[in-house]
Amino acid sequence: RLPAPFQTQLPVPPELAPFRSDATTDYYEIIQRTAQLDILPDLRTEAWTYHGSFPGPTIRARSGRATSVRHRNELPHPTVVHLHGGHTPADSDGYPMDVILPVGATSAPQHNAHGHGAAATTGNLTYGERTYLYPNRQRAASLWYHDHRHSFTGPAVWRGLAGFHLVGDEIEDSLPLPRGNRDIPLFICDRSFAEDGSFAYPLIDPDLHTPGVTDRYMNGVLGDVVLVNGAPWPRLEVSPVRYRFRLLNGSNARRYRLTLEPGSAADPFVQIGSDGGLLDRPLPHNHIDISPGERFDVVIDFAAYPPGTSVRLRNAFGTGPVADILRFDITGPTRYDDTAVPDRLAPVERLDPATAVAERTFLFQLGPNGWSINGRPYEPGRALAAPRLGTVEIWRFITDVHHPVHVHLDPFQVISRNNRPPGPFDAGWKDTVDVRPAEAVEVAVRFTDYPGPFMLHCHNLEHEDMAMMGDFVVS
Ligand code: C2O
Ligand code: CU
Repeated sequence: RLPAPFQTQLPVPPELAPFRSDATTDYYEIIQRTAQLDILPDLRTEAWTYHGSFPGPTIRARSGRATSVRHRNELPHPTVVHLHGGHTPADSDGYPMDVILPVGATSAPQHNAHGHGAAATTGNLTYGERTYLYPNRQRAASLWYHDHRHSFTGPAVWRGLAGFHLVGDEIEDSLPLPRGNRDIPLFICDRSFAEDGSFAYPLIDPDLHTPGVTDRYMNGVLGDVVLVNGAPWPRLEVSPVRYRFRLLNGSNARRYRLTLEPGSAADPFVQIGSDGGLLDRPLPHNHIDISPGERFDVVIDFAAYPPGTSVRLRNAFGTGPVADILRFDITGPTRYDDTAVPDRLAPVERLDPATAVAERTFLFQLGPNGWSINGRPYEPGRALAAPRLGTVEIWRFITDVHHPVHVHLDPFQVISRNNRPPGPFDAGWKDTVDVRPAEAVEVAVRFTDYPGPFMLHCHNLEHEDMAMMGDFVVS
């Protein structure tokens, strides 16, 4: 009953046009609403969407130019929007208690949150809509926005609340990288569907008053269908030239080892960027390991294959249907390619760990009351750290099982893994780091200019919802 692979053309999410622009800012509006999507053949899937599509519309921003997004919540459920990877002031960062109540709702829902339920309604809530202001004072980078409501992020993202927010800048423009229709964002995620085509997600309480998934999904919810830009195992016709792909793992819990099959003589993935934008130099990979929330910006040169070949993007961590992702069909004659991957991409300032003013350890583990950081479940308003503006700190993440650790506000640099040098997928500025079972990963992070409460958490969304999150307050 799974759809046959490689039948549908890869969709590319629509780009949203601003409804107004002035000297400093582009203004957008996104309606959050249910929509009936054509994901599976002959079936309809009711999704929770940003503006009617899944993924939601792509916002194209420019470094240094602000983006204002008015979100109107026409869904039957409170929401919160977070710009993942955004360098965003606290009041627009999507603190998990700062909900937008549905249009027409007059009071906040009462529910039993994981951790301390009493705090569950104490956020800065708004009625019907909220405007988020993103200054985009950051390097060119592939960011994404998604729901972030306390205890309910997993089901909301699973139902479709996620999209790209791509920041461009002059450095990127000056490089001869593939662009236009050869610069393609790929939102990779797994989902499961019921017989009637609806999204299947193992909620304890289908009415979403009590958060959480059934016990057997404590480790995270995995699907049996891989979607790319919302289509199951799609195909993409490419010419035998270079393409740039902005890979995002938008899955709730699944990790992928991306490979190309057949392979080519040279390493087929040339990584040019990470979560926080362009690397200083390109980094070739034979495969890419990507955990939930991470982005890898890569160039693939299809001239390495004979025209007429099909090359599959596969997942070496998966078996059966989830071992496949996407098929590239190389068509048309060999042609001159005026793009290149230069040896120098964009300068990456190195944070010097010797300048750190504090070292902190965060233990990500299963405690007696569920997933926790430093032994306690998430409690909104209780800070695990209080870094000072203008300083660098070293944060050490230690795990029991796999946890992709995400830090809001400022990007970081991985400085060690188990006291050894960073791994092959740790290059550049990161905001999410894949911490494998029983590892200790150290990162250097600098708190630059925005004070206030922010979060760090596991980006396995079921772990996050089940309280593997903490606040830090910058001042
Ligand atoms: Cu992508 Cu705090 O989230
Ligand atoms: Cu986790």
